[in-house]
Amino acid sequence: MAHVRIFDTTLRDGEQTPGVALNTAQKIEIAKQLARLNVDIIEAGFPITSQGDFEAVSRIAREVQGPVICALARTARADVERAAESIEHAGAGRIHVFTSGSPIHLEHMLRKTEAEVLEATAVNVTLARQYTDDVEFSAQDCTRADLGFLIRLYTAAVTAGATTINIPDTVGYGMPEEYGTLVRAIREGVPGAEGVHVSTHCHDDLGLAVANSLAAVGAGATQVECTINGIGERAGNASLEEVVMALETRKDFWGHTTQIATRELYRTSRMVSMMTGTMVPPNKAVVGDNAFAHESGIHQDGVIKAVETYEIMSAETVGRDAGVLVMGKHSGRRAFRKTLVEMGYEELGDDEFNALFTQFKSLCDRKQTVTSDDIRALVDVETARVPQTYLLESVQFQSGTAMTPMATVKLTTDTGTYEEAATGDGPVDAVYKALERIAQVPLTLEGYEIRSVGSGKDALGEVTVRVSSEGRSVHGRGLSTDVVEASAKAYVDVLNKLAAGVGRASAAGVATP
Ligand code: KIV
Ligand code: ZN
Repeated sequence: MAHVRIFDTTLRDGEQTPGVALNTAQKIEIAKQLARLNVDIIEAGFPITSQGDFEAVSRIAREVQGPVICALARTARADVERAAESIEHAGAGRIHVFTSGSPIHLEHMLRKTEAEVLEATAVNVTLARQYTDDVEFSAQDCTRADLGFLIRLYTAAVTAGATTINIPDTVGYGMPEEYGTLVRAIREGVPGAEGVHVSTHCHDDLGLAVANSLAAVGAGATQVECTINGIGERAGNASLEEVVMALETRKDFWGHTTQIATRELYRTSRMVSMMTGTMVPPNKAVVGDNAFAHESGIHQDGVIKAVETYEIMSAETVGRDAGVLVMGKHSGRRAFRKTLVEMGYEELGDDEFNALFTQFKSLCDRKQTVTSDDIRALVDVETARVPQTYLLESVQFQSGTAMTPMATVKLTTDTGTYEEAATGDGPVDAVYKALERIAQVPLTLEGYEIRSVGSGKDALGEVTVRVSSEGRSVHGRGLSTDVVEASAKAYVDVLNKLAAGVGRASAAGVATP
């Protein structure tokens, strides 16, 4: 069976999701998990845009083994040189050179003629090849471009030494059949294309990114660009887990395989959701909470009799178990460590493990049965933690139908312990006002989401908040069996991230694609 390469762009296109900002440590964590997932290529960033992006790509290139590490560059000498410098120490490194292909982009964005775009492409792909044998070329907005110009453009790139040609549907405009036809036309019309990889990069503006990517595979593409949970600009990119499981589940139809370790999919999805603060909708294919849940009696009856009646793939294949009871209050450190290793968390350091064990024990005091889902949620929160400038000591609140909600919070910082009380529209509002008084940082709550980890009255509540402060946007998460406490923890997580300098860095005047 033919091999389809999976090119993950969670750290580059995915990081362009509105409100998402990852720090270097988080990017390295995600890149290591992508290596465990066994993706072929990791697009680690766009180094010319900021010093932070450059450092993240360089460190991933040094520290993450396995996948090819790719850096993005426009058709400009400074971009290509900066990208080359960032991947210098990679085991295998790629430079991804891009321009635009449509008249709309040429006229309004690049302000260049076709001849100028052709010239810049030839020059900069040639330059990139001086640094690495692995060069990818993309022309944005192919689905609204003239085919004749695209053929000339991709021919120039292949002639200059591009080893992968990527055909982006930048604005999610293409229809599957139409996009497949475009990919085939470029593959067949560009001299030398048979000797290079043809790649697909689809956005989800009309909900067709995965369908379009698969149509491209049907038309001969051998690389799919995608992101975990489908995050990315606007409506996002093709979702990696959906593309991979469609190819895997229907290999009878596609006749292709990927090298993805599918059992790592769920864990990767949780990690990315956690670190980016983007919640996965419950009905999301493959990784959503309900993706393997059977609600109707007829379905439940069918699945009990024979699981294949309503399941086309097993939850285990994508790394999900039933969230069954794994531990209780009598479990010791050794048993807890063993469970973590069995769940795939073998690389936790001693400090992380100790913090987790303390949280696990306090959870056992509040919850009768601790499931693997609970443990996964604890690990996700713990591994996303930044240095604890603020420590939540306690939160108390009172509210009811006939009273003004009131809260008192106690926070410890390196200068002492502080307590404040406030009233609000509800208990969460009161808690947030009290926290703001202590921290004296201007905060605007832009998003608040809550989900239950598992079911039952004592289930853990997981709160995600998006907060802006002085031009920076930060996500925070909190976990507790008490939702007001979980809300307080999420806000304190934001304060700690702001103190640690996490937040979307400005792009030094470089527009991201
Ligand atoms: O959507 C797009 O066109 C891109 C390119 C840089 C590949 O992200
Ligand atoms: Zn894109």
